[in-house]
Amino acid sequence: MAYNLLKGKKGIIFGALDQKSIAWKVAEKAHEEGAVFTLTNTPTALRFGELDELAKKTGSEIIPADATNLNEVESVITKSMDIFGGKVDFILHSIGMSMNVRKKKVYNDLDYGYFAKTLDISALSFHKLLQSCFKHDAISEWGSVVALSYIAAQRTLYGYNDMGDAKALLESIARSFGYIYGRERKIRINTISQSPTITTAGSGVKGISGLFDFTERMSPLGNATAEECANFTVMMFSDLAKKITMQNIYHDGGFSSMGMSLRAMQMYNRSLDCDDCPDVE
Ligand SMILES: NC(=O)c1ccc[n+]([C@@H]2O[C@H](COP(=O)([O-])OP(=O)(O)OC[C@H]3O[C@@H](n4cnc5c(N)ncnc54)[C@H](O)[C@@H]3O)[C@@H](O)[C@H]2O)c1
Repeated sequence: MAYNLLKGKKGIIFGALDQKSIAWKVAEKAHEEGAVFTLTNTPTALRFGELDELAKKTGSEIIPADATNLNEVESVITKSMDIFGGKVDFILHSIGMSMNVRKKKVYNDLDYGYFAKTLDISALSFHKLLQSCFKHDAISEWGSVVALSYIAAQRTLYGYNDMGDAKALLESIARSFGYIYGRERKIRINTISQSPTITTAGSGVKGISGLFDFTERMSPLGNATAEECANFTVMMFSDLAKKITMQNIYHDGGFSSMGMSLRAMQMYNRSLDCDDCPDVE
């Protein structure tokens, strides 16, 4: 059901690749809620992804850009402002990639060239985006910017590798710029820390199926889906979340507050394959 939460609002959505992408779901939901927006991704992603289909469905223009390239990021902002005839009200940063993860380099044997690239793509691109928007005065008063994060920013998770460091930096940038944007422009900057989700980026994480099952068993409400993340993101873009800024908000079914759950304990005991493990009811 649509509530017209974003009626009349204009935005920019970074990172929709295919139908599994969280950004794709956010675009569909924002469209349903009355928003207009531009879509952007790298030229390679545009060649191999399905973004044309989303653009047609939502009546959006696509602006190609590598988010690590400052000039290209600026061009997304200025072209979007041209298209809308003024400032935007919301921006989604839904970008992440690690060559170390892709090449199966472990954390104690990282390639530093790849590491720098991970930080550039997954975190510094957020700073570049916010700095460019600030210089171009591109976001309306009470506008809202959201970047997607993961709990590996706070906790060590086997296999998440240098992306954990990138997410910690991403969340820190949201706070540091959130202060400046709030103070000077009355604009909100937040990160949403999402449950593991089966997407192209998500599938690259070592042991994602086991992790997905574990967090599902640990979370009292179960893992949050990409659609649910889209609903929450749209709420964060709306005027209903006007005084939330500089926050990292867990959207994870309660996982971040758990230590051990009944369902996880049952599974763990079963896997111990021993007679003296207590039965857990
Ligand atoms: N899938 C999960 O389990 C999960 C959980 C928590 C947070 N997140 C975060 O959600 C965000 C979106 O990921 P997703 O799971 O929807 O996967 P996805 O693969 O659909 O999206 C990642 C996007 O990043 C884009 N990208 C990569 N390099 C880029 C660059 N240089 N410039 C511009 N764009 C670039 C890709 O083209 C792709 O569209 C990421 O920040 C990811 O870390 C994902």
